[in-house]
Amino acid sequence: MELQEKIDKTFEERFGGHGAVYASAGRINLIGEHTDYNGGFVFPGAIDKVIMAEIRPNETDKVRVFSIDINDYAEFGLNEEDAPEASWARYIFGVAREVLKRGGVVKGFDAVFAGNVPLGAGLSSSAALESCFAFAINDMFNDNTIDKFELARIGQSTEHNYCGVNCGIMDQFASVMGQKGKLMRLDCRSMEFEYFPFEPKDYELVLVDSRVKHELADSPYNKRRQSCERVAKRLGIETLRDATMEMLEAVKTDITAEDYFRAKFVIEEKDRVLAVCDALNAGDYETVGRKMYETHRGLSKDYEVSCEELDFLNDLARECGVTGSRIMGGGFGGCTINLVKKELLPHFLEEVRARFNDKYGHEPQIYEVIISDGARKVCDAAR
Ligand code: GLA
Repeated sequence: MELQEKIDKTFEERFGGHGAVYASAGRINLIGEHTDYNGGFVFPGAIDKVIMAEIRPNETDKVRVFSIDINDYAEFGLNEEDAPEASWARYIFGVAREVLKRGGVVKGFDAVFAGNVPLGAGLSSSAALESCFAFAINDMFNDNTIDKFELARIGQSTEHNYCGVNCGIMDQFASVMGQKGKLMRLDCRSMEFEYFPFEPKDYELVLVDSRVKHELADSPYNKRRQSCERVAKRLGIETLRDATMEMLEAVKTDITAEDYFRAKFVIEEKDRVLAVCDALNAGDYETVGRKMYETHRGLSKDYEVSCEELDFLNDLARECGVTGSRIMGGGFGGCTINLVKKELLPHFLEEVRARFNDKYGHEPQIYEVIISDGARKVCDAAR
């Protein structure tokens, strides 16, 4: 059954009648990993996989919400002490709280939601969930007076304050601001951004999901961020955006080897994003691909957020002659993103399925990426 139809039917069964329907997207990131919380550049886009929710104000001070995919129901109030137990419900509670903290309006509502963004695959299903509800709350209770960028910040603060992940702004930004056929280069220091049409005619972007589940809460993700902050402090700067390799070399003996390699990756990655933008402007996909491999190497050896399966997928891509390949997102599992020449695609997919299966006993999941719109209203309540 279509996603919207399934949600509609469940809403009617649980609550009677209909609400308005909203959706927000998962994301990919072409390059610029772990740079967002260091004030650097990222280069994401929204994809055609979404979290969708049907929502209707219920004239009470309670939120009643059912997750179709998790097959779980939660009911909670809107005060700080009303935080629900279930981790999935905390995303929605967090968004509501963050809107209230900013002086916005949130009243009770009934909601049913479901999605097709794979969970734990590094495609930001949690940002899609936050952005969907932030967008809906803005539309339903605030006459869309909250700025769209602020909706992304509301999602990010939700992660920080209610979900234990000290993430950057990239995922929520991409989920809210995404536009069909366009990637976005965001400067995470000035928060200026630019849309880049991305429709390479001879290449496809393909995600290969190792199906190693990643869970960022309480994960080494927060530790990576702490390393970066320690080095920035030692250098007397606000973020590693302002660091150079020379500056890092000068303090090398005062910091741990681990912190040194973390910072080295971030400094190099910052320059790679700019190099990729120039290459894209020049239609030079070979350079884009080479930079992607460099990012993988850095994420694996210096930042240490890869795993055996992802390194295997990266080696395999190189062996098959894939133009660019790397881990995507926070790491510790999830997907590689691959820039593949169209004529090579069938061979690559065949090899990757067979050889991954031989080694790990299951095929990876493959997603061909379509760059799509971000947060939106799908339809009104009346139908
Ligand atoms: C996760 C975080 C983002 C970003 C990436 C790594 O997806 O939520 O803010 O830091 O990891 O680039």
